[in-house]
Amino acid sequence: VSIAVFASGSGSNFEVLVERSRRQHWPEPISLLVVDNPQAGALKRADRLGVPAISCRPSDYENKEAFEKELLSLLRKRGIEWILLAGYMRLLGSTLLQAYPWRILNIHPSLLPAFQGKDAIERALDYGVRWSGVTVHWVDEGIDTGPIIDQKPVLVEPEDTVDTLRKKVQFVEHNLYPAVVYKLLTGRIQPPDAQSAEEID
Ligand code: GRF
Repeated sequence: VSIAVFASGSGSNFEVLVERSRRQHWPEPISLLVVDNPQAGALKRADRLGVPAISCRPSDYENKEAFEKELLSLLRKRGIEWILLAGYMRLLGSTLLQAYPWRILNIHPSLLPAFQGKDAIERALDYGVRWSGVTVHWVDEGIDTGPIIDQKPVLVEPEDTVDTLRKKVQFVEHNLYPAVVYKLLTGRIQPPDAQSAEEID
């Protein structure tokens, strides 16, 4: 039983998740990185950390369903029970969502529901918000629309640029995401399906 991280880019969140999981001896290890493009910087980090990685290009498949079926069989073979999206720039389809109900998380660089979708940091800065932040949420079929698990605010200062704001946001991400996952794995946060099971009892 273990965890897979999905990424498309640099993979800084992937790296801190792996480091924290090892330092804190998580009950379920991060045993796989999945990327959807072979250029993802996350691959180099996986190599350095000794985490197995799979690079799977959707354009090599007939459609999203075929792509996700292939992914699903790879995940099942490896006993993956949790999926952590960390800069994965692709909407999940019903094949993966139905196979992992309430077992897929995402991190987003804004205080949702503000600035869903791409370029959230740039858009928050352009909009002139005084506070932005970070959200960890359950993944559903929408773009950053699933139920919120936890959030942390980040102050936007007048002198902030996209680069400085991104640095502040990522610093908060690198603490919040591992903390939420650890709470989930140790039962201090319950998936919504567990809560409803208790209500039925
Ligand atoms: C993060 O800001 C995350 O919130 C967003 O994509 C970015 C990924 O960064 N979804 P990295 O690849 O983990 O460095």
